Order: sequence, then C-alpha cells, then structure tokens
Amino acid sequence: PLFAASNNGDTRSKLEENKEPHVKRSDFPPGFLFGAATSAYQVEGAYLEDAKSLSNWDAFYQSTGYSNGENGDIADDHYHQFLGDIDAMHSLGLDSYRFSISWTRILPRGRFGKVNPAGIIFYNKIIDNLILKGIKPFVTLNHNDFPQELEDKYGSWLSPEMQEDFLYLAEVCFKSFGDRVKYWVTINEPNMFVELAYELGMFPPFRCSEPFGNCLHGNSDVEPLIAMHNMLLAHGRAAKLYHENFQPKQGGLIGLVVHCFMYEPLSDSELDREAAKRAFAFDMGWPLDPVVFGDYPEEMHKYLGSKLPSFSLEEKKFMKNSIDFIGINHYSTLYSKDCTNSSCSTVGNSSIQGFVEKVVERDGVLIGEPTGLDYLFVVPRGMEEIVNLIKLRYNNKPMFITENGYSSPDLKEQRVSKLLNDVKRVEFHESYLASLAKSMRDGADVRGYFVWSLMDSYEWLEGYNVRFGLYYVDRQTLTRVPKLSARWYKKFLTNNSVLI
Ligand code: NOJ
Repeated sequence: PLFAASNNGDTRSKLEENKEPHVKRSDFPPGFLFGAATSAYQVEGAYLEDAKSLSNWDAFYQSTGYSNGENGDIADDHYHQFLGDIDAMHSLGLDSYRFSISWTRILPRGRFGKVNPAGIIFYNKIIDNLILKGIKPFVTLNHNDFPQELEDKYGSWLSPEMQEDFLYLAEVCFKSFGDRVKYWVTINEPNMFVELAYELGMFPPFRCSEPFGNCLHGNSDVEPLIAMHNMLLAHGRAAKLYHENFQPKQGGLIGLVVHCFMYEPLSDSELDREAAKRAFAFDMGWPLDPVVFGDYPEEMHKYLGSKLPSFSLEEKKFMKNSIDFIGINHYSTLYSKDCTNSSCSTVGNSSIQGFVEKVVERDGVLIGEPTGLDYLFVVPRGMEEIVNLIKLRYNNKPMFITENGYSSPDLKEQRVSKLLNDVKRVEFHESYLASLAKSMRDGADVRGYFVWSLMDSYEWLEGYNVRFGLYYVDRQTLTRVPKLSARWYKKFLTNNSVLI
C-alpha cells in the first residue's frame, strides 16, 4: 500500500500521557483553515514528463552536482502519487492544501510557446480531487521555479520582460482553475528568493555581490533590488488582472507570501532597537510595504537613495492594496545588532540589509534550539511577536500562516523508527500554535495555518536529509508513512486533543 501503517506505537514519550493540551483547535475561530503545504519542485518529480520543460533548477542540476547529487528529478513522485497524497490529507482532516504550480508544466516556453494541455490536466486533477474530498486548494503561482528558457533569453527576474511572462502564467491559471481555486498566492517568499539568488549566490542563477559559497557570477549590488522590483511589479500586475477581471465573477482572494523572521534587538540599546525596526523594514517591509502602501519603506529610501528602483505614479496606484491577505512563512527569530557605525559582519550586502547584523546568540546562549537549517531556531514566542508587528504595521490586514515547520538538526539520523517518532516536531507545532492563538486573542486577523510540510521532500540545496514532513517518505520505495506528528495533527484537528 502507498500509505504503510506506522509502527512507532511503542516509542512515544510524554505525549502519550493523557494530559490537558495547551492548545486546542477550539482556540481558533470557526472557519479558520488548517492545512499543509508543499511546492512543485520539491515534491512532483517527473521532471521531463508530458512535455514539461527544464526549469532553472532542473537546468542547474544537469550541469553541476549539488546536495550530494540529490535533486528534484523524482522528488516524492507526487506527479504520479497525488491521489494517494490527497487521501492522506483527507485522513488527516485538512481543510486546505497549499501547493504550487510548476510554470514549466503549464508554459514550457513561457510566453514564447503554447499552453501545455498535460499541465492543465494535471492541476485540474489535483484541484478536482481535493474538492471531492472537501479540501480547499490554496495555490501559489510561483515558488522558486520557472522555465530556464526565460533565464537564457533575458535573465529572468533581472528583466522587466519577466513581468510579461508571469502575467501570462497568471492569466492562464486564473482562466483554467479560478472557477474552483479561491485562494491564490502570486509569488512565494520573494525576499528569501532574491537574497539567495542575487545576493548570496546560493540559488540559481547564483549571482552575488561579494564572493560567497557557490556563487558563480559576480554582480553589482543593485541586482537583488532590481529582481525584487520586477517580482513585485509582476505580482501587482497579476493581482490587478485578478481583481478587475476574475475576482468579480470567481470571488476568490489573492495574496503574497513573505518569509518572516522575527527580529528582536540584541540589547536594550536605542541603536539595537532601531536596528530591529530596520531589519523588519529591509526584509519583510521590502516586499510588503509596496503591496499595501504602494511604495518601499521610508528606511530603505533613506539608506539606499537612488539605488532603490522607483515605482511610477501609475505603478504605485496598482501596487497599493494589491493583496487581499498577507501570507506569512514563519519559522524562526534572530537578534539584530546595529552596524551603522561599524563594519557589518553579516554575510551578504550590508546596505541592502539595512546595516543590521543578524545574531543567533546572546551572552553565549543560543536564541533557541537549533534545527536542520543553520539559520532557523525554535523560538515559539516569535510567532506571536511577528504576527503582532505585521498586524500593527499593515492595519490588521487578513493574514495566513502559509508555512511553519520543524526539521531535526540530526541530519545523519536514518533509523526509520527515530524519524517516525518525531516528538520534537509535535512540540514545535503545539508551542507555535499556542503562540499564534495568543496573538489572535489580542485581535490579530489570522485566517489559517499551514504546516510545512505535508511530507518529507527535497529541501533546496540540502537534499533529502532535511525533513519537514508530517509523513516520512522512504527514498527507495517512495512509500509515505505517517509520523507521530501526522497522528498528532489529525487528533488536534478532529478531537481537540493531543491524545495520540
Ligand atoms: C520556505 C520555502 O517556501 C520552502 O520551499 C522551504 O522548503 C522551507 N522554507 C524550509 O526551508
């Protein structure tokens, strides 16, 4: 069977005690969506099937080896196993499933070729089967991957041409799927993407302004700003199209998903407190201020001057209020330390990071327990704090927690029994949910929460040993096995209890 029974009944710890849960589904309002998330490259595989073209990620892995030679060619084979995966979602009792569209399946050559019917059929099947099971599709149009041809032709997000391509993709998707999809995300984490792809040179096309890691191409330090500008305008134009031509009939919502660190000041000094504010502005404010207020944060104008691209009056108009909700991917908290007067030791470009050092220790003590990714720590209070900050700055615009999840720091662990007995993951979700519930009691308008991720999958640059899933995926057989956390989530969703 695709979903083998998990055999970890004898290894549960404290959780087994029938103790009072400190967070319950009923702490959240009726209609609040609970779900799980994935993205196309990380789960689909079938990287060249049914007329799909090579994406920026596929192309890269053909020319280099990375992540121990691991890549998304097969991933979780979700392309062939989606029906079983939807059954798994149903058995968990999910209200919603967040997934992304592979641009290369729908428009293998961008706007320079035809719509690929096989791509439309694939996503129609996913959407229809989700709806059959009462699960609401929550669809991201772009999650890191796009046709390599657009990179080769004009440099992808560094060119305004990419806006045209994205707009076309959006239109095809609204037309094909919008009768059934009521939640759209234009772009996933533009802030993380441009940092990794154009500042640190870690994501294709590996561009960086200072030599670092796997950076292949030196660039000028304005590239991250330009790439973001094009992504934001692409978002804004697609959202305008949706609001004017589709929403009136289809009645859905459209938003942008941003990677949200919580930044706490390292010390109580005025300078560090200002640094924490700048860290917010230069990271989350960078994409969010334009889509709510129509322009970049003041702090960015002040420090970057003419380096910062500008929106025309007409652009400001359509950028402003171009989202119906803010998608928050929240995992972790960092300390921020002012470096306006000293040299910043932060990796990457200090001016586009607002002259803030991002620090993970205070007085020799780590900010939280480490995880499988060296920049993420377990800091549950950060959820309440970041939601409150976003609520304040953006007038309590509706929010969704579009991702939140845990991966174990023990990347060498291969024993299945250990991987299935993921007590830490359960504790992570419980504590972050409790923190979220607090912010909502104080009035934050949060409408949903998505676990990252439904199942273990390909983690960008890291491969398959960084695992975020509620389901374990056997890399040999690709069988899915529910972890303790899957059973916890199911109980949480159905019985209001942590009793496993
Ligand atoms: C956010 C990204 O959207 C997702 O693709 C990634 O796997 C997780 N963070 C964990 O790094």
